[in-house]
This record gives sequence, structure tokens and C-alpha cells, in this order.
Amino acid sequence: MRSPTAHPQAARPARVANPAMLAEVAAGLSAPQKELSPKFFYDQRGSELFEAITRLPEYYPTRTERALLAGWMPELMRQLGTRSLVELGAGNAEKSRIILDAMRATGLGELYVPIDVSATFLSQTAAQLRREYPGLAVEPAVADIAVELNLPRRIPRPALFAFLGSTIGNFYPPAAIRLLGRVRAAMGPGDRFLLGVDLRKDIARIEAAYNDSQGITAEFNRNMLLVLNHELGADFDPAAFEHRAFYDRVAHRIEMHLVSTRAQTVTIPGLESVALAEGESIRTEISAKYDRESVAELFAAAGLTIEAWPRDPETPFGLVLGAPA
Ligand code: SAH
Ligand code: AVI
Repeated sequence: MRSPTAHPQAARPARVANPAMLAEVAAGLSAPQKELSPKFFYDQRGSELFEAITRLPEYYPTRTERALLAGWMPELMRQLGTRSLVELGAGNAEKSRIILDAMRATGLGELYVPIDVSATFLSQTAAQLRREYPGLAVEPAVADIAVELNLPRRIPRPALFAFLGSTIGNFYPPAAIRLLGRVRAAMGPGDRFLLGVDLRKDIARIEAAYNDSQGITAEFNRNMLLVLNHELGADFDPAAFEHRAFYDRVAHRIEMHLVSTRAQTVTIPGLESVALAEGESIRTEISAKYDRESVAELFAAAGLTIEAWPRDPETPFGLVLGAPA
């Protein structure tokens, strides 16, 4: 099989629109287990499909986290006196409004910094929030949080850094530690970190959340191929890929794959062609599930400590407050 890595003799487009993305895609599709980063899900349509996922009956994380936030944030914002909310992977900031409302109620909230890789979706979110919270400065930051946070220079303290939705689970452990280490480095002594994590539980329930009966998750998964077609001029045929999501009991994570339904060759300008055998898959996402011990390990490796984790044993999702260790 020929490798899809950039090749001097391969036909190159006059200008590669997104060389960083091309290089990352090339590396991922050259690996023995082909792999693409889940950050490529989130163009406008992908972000909208994710919103649809959050409303699915099978997808418990969003509604559980929302209820946890509603129960805790009014009290926590009073305790912390938070002046700034900095949120990683903010998306539509739907649940962030619970924190922003609680900040507004204390009269101390000044700044909201939503950070996201999805630039157009982020600017829509920011425009909407400026209308809803006239007294609040909203300073969106476009960044790949695996690489940088791209924070504004002035952040009124104390700040709350939030990473909700269990998006931490979409990063492999070394990347998750680096990411939290970056947050830790940006925190002052009075700042806090709020992490939403999906928890280990009954496997059938987890697998159902990633194999919904309406096929929205399958459409979300296939949308990544359309993103590659649009951004890189690739010629993926999404209809030639099946959605597969399964739980790995050893690694404690969901894996999402796109499985090639036939032997096929895909062309991406600037790379050699990519050959896929029938049944061969591209891994598009991991979604790791945590427990108290694994969160504590992650925090410790990043210089954080668990300060509070109000736990109802029945809750399938965790909301954890971290502080600098
Ligand atoms: N926080 C929201 C959205 C979760 S969806 C919620 O809890 O519902 C995941 C979000 O993270 C998307 O908006 C996506 O664009 C963003 N994201 C994913 N990978 C990212 C990365 N590497 N850098 C920055 N943002 C990322
Ligand atoms: C954004 N992220 C936390 C979601 C998850 O559950 O891992 C993305 C998702 N993938 C399939 N469904 C939802």
C-alpha cells in the first residue's frame, strides 16, 4: 500500500489552503491504524450536528452536566467571587450561560473568554452572548487548545477556567496532561478550574450514547469527510463509509471509526492517494471515561488538585473543581 505522506513527485495544488491541516491529515492517514483528529468534526454543520446530539435521548452527558451546573454554580460563584470565565471548547456556550448567570447575580462578572477551534461558530456564539449579557466583555479566542490557549493579555482575577462537556475525553492522556498543564500555567493562585468529565459506568448505556437510533452520531462522524473535502479538496465519498462506535474496556474509552465499505482510493491534493481496504477503518475520535482516581492522576500530572467534587453516586457525569496544587 502506498503511503499518503506528502511526496515530492505528487501533484500539488498551486496553493495549499491549509498546510497545517494537510500535514496533520497526512500523518494520521499514514499510521497503521488510520486516524483523524476529532477537531475536524466542527465546521458549521458539524457544530450543529453536535448540538443535535446533545438533545438525543441516548446522549446523557449534556443534560446531566447542565443539571449539575444549575445546582452548584450560584453557590460556587458566590464563594469564589469569580470575575472572569475562560472556557475551553466553548461551542454554543449553552451550559456556560448557567455560569454567566451566576456570575451576573454576584455583580462581579466582567469577562467571558470562549476558546474554540471552530472560528465561525465561535463568532456567532460571541455575538449572541454580547446581546444577552450587555454588561459583560466577551473576548473570543480562536485556538487549537492542543497547541495553545491564545488568551487575552488582561484577565480580571479571580478567574474560573472551565472545560465542560467531557471534551477532555477526546484527547489521549499525554495530550490531556499537556492541555491541563497549559491551563495550570495560566492560572493565578486564586483561580480555579472546573472540569466536566463523563464517568465509567454500564457499557451498554455508554455505547448507546454513541450509536443513537436516529443516526445523528453517524452523520456527525461522516461529516468529517465533508470537512476534508471542503478544506483540502479531497474526494471522500461519505456514503462509502459506515459509522462504528464501541467501548474499549481496557482503555476505558469509546472509539469512533469510519469503516470503508469497499476497497477504495481517495485523493487529497498534495498527498499521494490514500488506499483503503474493504473493512479498513479510520479512527475519528476517542472519548475517554473517567473515575475519581483517573481524574486525580490527570490533575496531579498537570499540577492541579481536586478541591471539590460534589458527588451523587447515581450521577453518570462528574463536575470537578480543581485548584493549583
Ligand atoms: N463545551 C460544549 C461543546 C462541546 S463540543 C458543550 O459542552 O456542549 C466540543 C467543542 O470543542 C466544539 O465546539 C469544538 O469545536 C471544540 N474543540 C474540539 N477540539 C478542539 C481543539 N483541539 N481546540 C479548540 N477547540 C476544540
Ligand atoms: C465533544 N465530545 C465530548 C463528544 C463526546 O461525547 O466525546 C463528541 C461526540 N462524539 C460523538 N458524540 C458526541
